Amino acid sequence: MTLTAPPQATSAPAAPPRDLSGRDVAIDVQHLVKAFRKRQGGTLLRPQFSESRAVDDVTFQVRRGEIYGVLGPNGSGKSTLIRAMSTLLIPDAGTVGIFGLDVVRDEAQVRRLLNRVSVDAAFYKKLSPRENLLYSAQLYGLDRHVAEERAQVTLKRLGLKEKAFFEPLEEMSRGMQQKVAIARAFLTSPVIVLLDEPTTGLDPKSRRDVQEFVLELRDVHDATIILTTHDMPEAERLCDRIAFISGGKFVAEGTAEELRGLVGEGKTLEDAFIELTGEGLAEEEGE
Ligand SMILES: Nc1ncnc2c1ncn2[C@@H]1O[C@H](COP(=O)(O)OP(=O)(O)OP(=O)(O)O)[C@@H](O)[C@H]1O
Ligand SMILES: [Mg+2]
Repeated sequence: MTLTAPPQATSAPAAPPRDLSGRDVAIDVQHLVKAFRKRQGGTLLRPQFSESRAVDDVTFQVRRGEIYGVLGPNGSGKSTLIRAMSTLLIPDAGTVGIFGLDVVRDEAQVRRLLNRVSVDAAFYKKLSPRENLLYSAQLYGLDRHVAEERAQVTLKRLGLKEKAFFEPLEEMSRGMQQKVAIARAFLTSPVIVLLDEPTTGLDPKSRRDVQEFVLELRDVHDATIILTTHDMPEAERLCDRIAFISGGKFVAEGTAEELRGLVGEGKTLEDAFIELTGEGLAEEEGE
């Protein structure tokens, strides 16, 4: 599998920004804010709304070839962050740079470089993986034969049985559908991959298949990956660096070892997660 080369921006700086260590910065998120309006009572004719920030002033950078984990409790803003980074939501404030391109201003170019896999991937359920993937390939403007071969290689690599390629998606388990969603994301050979809970709901063997595929993408194909997960061992195994998000804000960032170190000797990543995201407190208060 060959990956698309990072672009030369038309309106942005010719060279991607560099971080302090001198490595290319693939993803540069600065003061990102995304708020949603929620109805808070009022009447039918005069509803009242309040605004809440799902992503609240988030700033971070991801180096080229890095796997960066975003860990946070339910509702902490992970999926919103991923969607705002993948051009699906327009940020209210702040910027997302992808190899020097701006996700809002240079949307079309960014879409060619980046793809997202989410737990709620939409498919034509009556159609088979093959038909769904060929349909997507057509939308992406890919050659049919190249797309079919690439999809087949990825699906086999992820451990999907060959005959499942031709069965309707509605007859497949959630885990199998998740593998098809991953294969679809790789049709375009993206250089940046945003994986929103890629292994949630998968059995141990399938989870291992997906995790190894993610490592291979980084190590063999030089992809840059952002991954959200609730699985601490997975984060430790895959992520070069991890951010904890809570209430839409990044509350800590570092390697798994650095994060463990923040809460004291002998502590696990889960201990650090609970302490730094305030999840323990929330549970105690709720009792
Ligand atoms: N389309 C939307 N409209 C209104 N509010 C939304 C929308 N999408 C998300 N939210 C709100 O934004 C907040 C963050 O949601 P988000 O889905 O980003 O959390 P998450 O960290 O991905 O959670 P989970 O671990 O459950 O997947 C939540 O309060 C959610 O209710
Ligand atoms: Mg989510």
